[in-house]
Amino acid sequence: MARQGWAELYGWQLDRTNGTPLSRQLYMQVRTGVLAGNLAPGTKLPSSRVMSSRLKLARASVVAAYEQLLAEGYIEGRAGSGTYVSSDLAGLVARPVRRASPRKPRQIPDTAQAFAEFAQSTAQTDKRPFNTGRTLVDARTVEVWRKLTHRAVRTLGPHDLGYTDPCGLIDLRRSICDYLRAARAVRCEPEQIVVTAGTQHAIDIAIRVLLAPGEEVWVEDPGYFLTHRQLLLAKMRLRPVPVDAQGLRIDAGLRTAPRAKVAFVTPSHQFPTGVQLSMARRLELLAWARESGAYIVEDDYVSEFRYSGPPLASLQGLDDDERVIYVGTLNKALFPGLRLGYAVVPHALLPAFVSARYLMDRQPPSLYQTVAAEFLREGHFAAHIRRMRALYREQRDALAATLARRAADHIEVDVPDQGMHLIAYLRNGGSDTKIEEEARRAGIVVRAMSRFYRRAQPKAALMLGFSGFPRTLIVPAAARLAAIVAAAGTTRRRT
Ligand SMILES: Cc1ncc(COP(=O)(O)O)c(C=O)c1O
Repeated sequence: MARQGWAELYGWQLDRTNGTPLSRQLYMQVRTGVLAGNLAPGTKLPSSRVMSSRLKLARASVVAAYEQLLAEGYIEGRAGSGTYVSSDLAGLVARPVRRASPRKPRQIPDTAQAFAEFAQSTAQTDKRPFNTGRTLVDARTVEVWRKLTHRAVRTLGPHDLGYTDPCGLIDLRRSICDYLRAARAVRCEPEQIVVTAGTQHAIDIAIRVLLAPGEEVWVEDPGYFLTHRQLLLAKMRLRPVPVDAQGLRIDAGLRTAPRAKVAFVTPSHQFPTGVQLSMARRLELLAWARESGAYIVEDDYVSEFRYSGPPLASLQGLDDDERVIYVGTLNKALFPGLRLGYAVVPHALLPAFVSARYLMDRQPPSLYQTVAAEFLREGHFAAHIRRMRALYREQRDALAATLARRAADHIEVDVPDQGMHLIAYLRNGGSDTKIEEEARRAGIVVRAMSRFYRRAQPKAALMLGFSGFPRTLIVPAAARLAAIVAAAGTTRRRT
């Protein structure tokens, strides 16, 4: 429990005018710091030599103060390592507490309130089945990733430690570009690729660059709640456009908001329904954008995981007029903690996009970019996707089969051809939020699909992630869920 270094930053001070011996002042400062919890147990103190030079105090005086503290048990010496705040005081001394206002809660600006109200409803850290957005990483990938990280750390040079290109490292952008051209039929040059921290970040930049507060945007209904929330908090006017079996209903969009500035879409695997935008609708959407001068933000978040053939081509690849910003992520294809994604930006928008990115956070961190670039270049990414596709397919089938076997009368499972989640429709209607609650009490995380609707008539269904859980967890959890749904359905029929 060594808390290295913080005491180096402590505001050590001596008052040479107040007559108290300097050694005593130093003793008092350490003692007070320890008792108040500001110097936590395990914190390493500066050596007597460093402290003496820092305070311009004779080394013998520092040693005298340390000896006194040692004798009284505030600090301890560790052979060959240095002097530390005694670790056996852990839990016994006060922790610094921030005092809340004793009277009424502090008023905060409306904007801050709006952000605060965005509850952590997404609960992405919940590890229980069937939370969505989770991935599995097998031992082979972990081993390769570890090796490449070690290599990147060993070869870390001054260039990596300084400011670099806000668009990201060119090696990574080249690898992403090759991958997108081959696997997704994206039309791009490495220079058009801006590395981001993921989809969320890319969409944030797109909003800043393309929109002014109060402007109209098309969003899918039902749709991706994080994009909806980002747009609302940026004060855009959301125009929900319904989704049917062919994806976004362009005719409805044209009726409600023909002059919208941007459409935010998930054409390859609509979130959450999983439908693909048909070719006719793709061409209609592009025609609308071309004629009205609007842009399209294509969120292509899970195209890597298609189970019945190669991934579907992107919408961007059909765009002759550079109206599409294509957004992809490595956080799903690899693992969410990576925080690396990318946007393919039309040439005309590049300078704006790069400046916005620079003003937000300057650049992506170098180390993981280097690792990811090597991972892609050496073919590990393609191999990882191949292995995960087989694994996720097996998990999807185990979930669908268990639900079908146990609750066929109550649930209709839509087995998706792509992605990391499936939708289980409640045959007898009823409240999906109620089942969400009951399941949570039984240790199962499901998402009520009705939550993703804005105006369209919600369908009662459960969204279940299958990618993050081995078969051995999926089968018993699915059986428990089936029992919950069956019980709810039977009660409803009786009443
Ligand atoms: C529709 C959609 N887009 C993108 C993402 C990935 O987001 P990020 O790259 O920020 O992790 C998700 C994750 O759940 C998603 O559901």
